[in-house]
Amino acid sequence: MQIETGVSLKPYNTFGLPAMAQTLVRITSDADVRRVLDHPELGRTPKFVLGGGSNIVLTRDVAQVVLKVEVQGRRLVEARDDAWIVEAGAGETWPDFVAWTIEQGLPGLENLALIPGTVGAAPVQNIGAYGVELKDRCHAVDVVDLVTGRSVTLDASLCRFGYRDSIFKQGLAGKSLITRVRFRLPKPWQPVLGYLDLERKIAETGIAAPTAAQVHDWVCSIRRAKLPDPLVIGNAGSFFKNPVVTEDQCRDIIGRDPEIVHYPMPDGSFKLAAGWLIDACGWKGKSIGRAGVYEKQALVLVNRGGAIGAEVVTLARAIQESVYGRFGIRLEPEPVVV
Ligand code: EPU
Repeated sequence: MQIETGVSLKPYNTFGLPAMAQTLVRITSDADVRRVLDHPELGRTPKFVLGGGSNIVLTRDVAQVVLKVEVQGRRLVEARDDAWIVEAGAGETWPDFVAWTIEQGLPGLENLALIPGTVGAAPVQNIGAYGVELKDRCHAVDVVDLVTGRSVTLDASLCRFGYRDSIFKQGLAGKSLITRVRFRLPKPWQPVLGYLDLERKIAETGIAAPTAAQVHDWVCSIRRAKLPDPLVIGNAGSFFKNPVVTEDQCRDIIGRDPEIVHYPMPDGSFKLAAGWLIDACGWKGKSIGRAGVYEKQALVLVNRGGAIGAEVVTLARAIQESVYGRFGIRLEPEPVVV
């Protein structure tokens, strides 16, 4: 086990924000976690688990021991009659893993193409896009308990998945480290095409029954057209969750803003498009300091070059205040502010 000290975390967060880790250990196996826990000094120091850094806003140096998850490996575990079971190490890059499943003829994750981050981070916030959420494909998650060092498997039903939420963000936050994720890809494969952007692709191409590889390509091109590539412009994807309001609240807002983008939910509530709310407040393309609102999608905050975490937080607060002032809705950030 190699213990690194004074490590810059700038290359390890997709926003490209500056922060230092006093101590960083790369985790490539369950045994590595146990070595850290058994270490005379590190064992007693609080731990901070870092995945692909695609869902954090670093506003300060990290005093905890940073455990950088680098568990590799991807394989078909089992081809059952009703599903393929596929496994990936938590340190695998999510978009590469999804592309690999498609190449291997294992369809089911194509709608989740190109989401930045690692496999291990995917269940934490139950990533979702174009009508599919990770919870729809998750079979089980392997974790190591950060107190006892025990390896445990959590069946998907125990992960308490919600909209951009899970047990790993709640009760198990900071208490466990995800090492591997297994996916259940149902057979026969059925494309999920209900999302407006995908319906447009069907109309454009005239392909009504696309293959998984075609859906994968479509999702990649839709995302590239409106979401910034973190390797070029620092960002953490959608910065705010889409807020959910009651039917009465929704009707009240529609009365004042008939154009508002809203989607009925199965429980009678309505989900509003946070991007639309922010856009309506005139934020698209605006900046505070070196942090800005992306020109093509108001839900994405970007690092215009050299921003620090405090600038991102200031911009986020200003947006929250103006959306609250106009619509009476409190936007909740998606990334974790450290
Ligand atoms: N809109 C605007 N102005 C904007 C942005 C959006 O008017 O600046 C409107 C759009 O016209 C559209 C609506 O808002 O009618 C919704 O926008 P979009 O379809 O782009 O989806 P979203 O709600 O912004 C969500 C997820 C994305 C996911 C897409 C596709 C959240 C917080 N975001 O975005 O997830 O890729 O749907 O399924 O749920 C992420 O979480 O990081 C992420 C990128």
